[in-house]
Amino acid sequence: MSAGQGRVFSGMQSTHSLHLGNYLGAMINWVKMQETHECIYCIVDLHAVTVAQDPKTLQSNIREVAAAYLASGLDAKRSIIFNQSQVPQHAELAWIFNCVARMGWLNRMTQFKEKAGKNRENASVGLFAYPTLMAADILAYKATHVPVGEDQKQHLELTRDIAQKFNTDFAESIADNGLDPDYFPLPEPVITGAATRVMSLRDGTNKMSKSDPSDMSRINMTDSADEIAQKIRKARTDPEPLPDSVEGLKERAEADNLIGLYAGLAGTDKAAVLKEFGGAQFSAFKPALADIAVEVLSPIAGEIRRLTADPSEIDSILGDGAERAAAIAEATLKEVKTVMGFVASRPV
Ligand code: TYM
Repeated sequence: MSAGQGRVFSGMQSTHSLHLGNYLGAMINWVKMQETHECIYCIVDLHAVTVAQDPKTLQSNIREVAAAYLASGLDAKRSIIFNQSQVPQHAELAWIFNCVARMGWLNRMTQFKEKAGKNRENASVGLFAYPTLMAADILAYKATHVPVGEDQKQHLELTRDIAQKFNTDFAESIADNGLDPDYFPLPEPVITGAATRVMSLRDGTNKMSKSDPSDMSRINMTDSADEIAQKIRKARTDPEPLPDSVEGLKERAEADNLIGLYAGLAGTDKAAVLKEFGGAQFSAFKPALADIAVEVLSPIAGEIRRLTADPSEIDSILGDGAERAAAIAEATLKEVKTVMGFVASRPV
C-alpha cells in the first residue's frame, strides 16, 4: 500500500460479469488511485444478495469479479482486495447505521425506487437498507475518497449524512474517549473521466446495466473481439455526421455516449476525439471505436479467463485481503462500540 493523501474505498457487486460502464466509470480510476492513495477494493457480495442469487452462480461471480479487478490492473500487494462477506464488521456497522439513518433519508433513494419497481411491497428489507451497508463499507475504514460512477452520487451523500449524524449524536462520548471530534471523515466522491455515466448501446437515454435484458445493450469485459465489434456495429446512432465540438453533442444522446466511450478508452476527452472525428459519419467512426475497445478489453478478458480457470490463486488473494481489511475494520468497530456505550466483558 502506498501512503498518500487519504484512504480510498470502493466496491462492485458480484451479480454479473462486469461491463464497460463499470470499467470506464470506476475501474480505471481505481487503478490510477493506487499510485497516490492507500486503496481498499471490495467485492460487495452482501449487497448482491439484496436480490435473489443462485449460490453456485454467486460463487463463480465473486471469483469472476475478483479476476476482473486483478486483470484490470489492481495490485493485490499494494491494495487490499477482498469480498465483503468475509469481514463481518461491515454487517455489524450497517446495523448500527440502520439506527442512525432516518427512514426519510432512505425513502429518497432513487436507486431503491428503480430497483424495487412497482412491486415495492415485495422488495427485500435488505434492498431498502442497501445504502446503510454501503456507508458501513466506506466508514469501517474511515475512507476519505470513493471513486465511483455518477449513479452512486446519492448513496455517497447519504454516507456523508450518516457520518455527520454519528459524529454529532455521539460528540460528547467521542471527546470523552479522546477520539478525533470528526470521528468519521465525510468521504469525497471521486467521479471523473470522460465516461462517468455510460449509456446503453441500444438506447442513449438508459444507463448501461447488467440488468438490461438485451445483451446487445452492453459490452461485457469478457466479450470476444467479434462480440464487441458486432455490438458496436449495431449500436444505435442518429443520421447526422459527428459534430466538431462537444456543444454539438447536446440532444444527441447516442453520439455523446459513443464519443465518451472512445474518449474513456483512449484516456482522452470528448473534445480531442471530436477533433479527430468531427464531420465523420458513424460508418467511419464505429470501426475505430471497435478497434480501440478490442485493444483495451481483449488482454483483460484473456487474463480473466486465465485467472478463473484456477480459483485457488483468487481465493488466496481474497483470503489475504480479508485479513488485512478485518484488522482495520475491527479497530473501528471496537471504538464505535465503546463510543456508543456497549459493554465488552467477553474475555478475548
Ligand atoms: P455497481 O456494482 O452497480 O457498480 C460498480 C461501479 O461501476 C459504476 N457503474 C457505472 N459507471 C458509469 N456508467 C455506468 N453505466 C455504470 N454502471 C455502473 C458504479 O457507479 C460503481 O462505481 N452500490 C455500489 C457498490 C458499493 C460501493 C460500496 C461502491 C457497495 N459498497 C462502497 C463504493 C463504496 C454498486 O451497486 O455498484
